[in-house]
Amino acid sequence: MDLPKTMRAVAITAPGGPEVLRPVTVDRPDPGHGQILIRIAYAGVNRPDALQRAGSYAPPPTASPLPGLEAAGTVAAVGPGVSEWTVGDAVCALLPGGGYAEYAVTPAAHALPVPKGMDLREAACLSETFFTVWSNVFLRGGLRAGEVFLIHGGSSGIGTTAIQLARAFGARVFATAGSPEKCAACERLGAERAIDYRAEDFVEVLKAEGGADLILDMVGGSYLPRNVKALKDDGRLVQIAFLQGPKVELNFAEVMMRRLTITGSTLRPQSDLAKARIAASLRQHVWPLLDAGRIAPVMDSEFPLDDAATAHARMEGSAHIGKIVLRV
Ligand SMILES: NC(=O)c1ccc[n+]([C@@H]2O[C@H](COP(=O)([O-])OP(=O)(O)OC[C@H]3O[C@@H](n4cnc5c(N)ncnc54)[C@H](OP(=O)(O)O)[C@@H]3O)[C@@H](O)[C@H]2O)c1
Repeated sequence: MDLPKTMRAVAITAPGGPEVLRPVTVDRPDPGHGQILIRIAYAGVNRPDALQRAGSYAPPPTASPLPGLEAAGTVAAVGPGVSEWTVGDAVCALLPGGGYAEYAVTPAAHALPVPKGMDLREAACLSETFFTVWSNVFLRGGLRAGEVFLIHGGSSGIGTTAIQLARAFGARVFATAGSPEKCAACERLGAERAIDYRAEDFVEVLKAEGGADLILDMVGGSYLPRNVKALKDDGRLVQIAFLQGPKVELNFAEVMMRRLTITGSTLRPQSDLAKARIAASLRQHVWPLLDAGRIAPVMDSEFPLDDAATAHARMEGSAHIGKIVLRV
């Protein structure tokens, strides 16, 4: 099949608000050694895309400057050394960047099969949140069945994934969210108790349960000392973002005296090998749940690729529940 030399995409034309996202025509990428070229059907929208657009989350030097960290579609070409995929395979993949486009390249080991019975629209929304939640909550945070797990931002793309996975693996799930409607969505997904943070104090709710074994936090700021209070002795806090800011005053004596662990990670700067290992672990432990339909991404809304600016405005307005997707 002849592939076009150029493609439609959406670029960040200058650091700024959603309006800086504009349709463009650019050269189509070619897959290098160990990479596949994906003909994208749908691309997922994630909060880190908005940070990149605003100029505060630069892509790694070798990544496409176009936004977009995940997509689903079909393999259009394979680079040298790729044996696990062939042209025409339906895949969903974590991307180093470049998902807001008709074509993108990614290491072959960062792609996974589209789960049985799932359409490409849903499959496009899996990679960024499943790689992030699996690596932070289970591989780094060590969540075990029966543990009390608190998720902040429960209605976010990350939160809706974390609730379902933690439930599927037998944890007791608590989640915070910013409205009664979002709290109801968290409970429908499997949270034992959702906490409207505008009306209730999550520290009090968790203390009444004896504290959290593990907390997944994306808020930071004033939440950091409160998370420490909400943990059990020997509890673990995994930080994946700082929507309220990364600088706080914290009494580390409490961390020491109560044997707490504070850790965290970001996915994008990790090595190709580290991401390939997360993909392999997901395929072994999580893909069977997706294949069986026991968990699925929560879909909020769909926009045409050219309307990526509207998609970002919706995400930053925080009215959404679950994932926003671009139709390419
Ligand atoms: N470390 C990593 O590798 C990694 C990877 C992917 C994403 N992330 C981070 O994870 C977070 C979620 O990503 P996403 O794509 O799922 O985003 P998202 O769907 O836009 O979710 C963000 C959520 O945070 C809540 N929120 C926003 N500002 C808040 C505040 N000041 N205090 C409390 N809650 C607030 C919002 O809901 P409410 O209405 O409930 O406030 C919203 O649901 C983002 O911060 C993103 O940067 C990290």
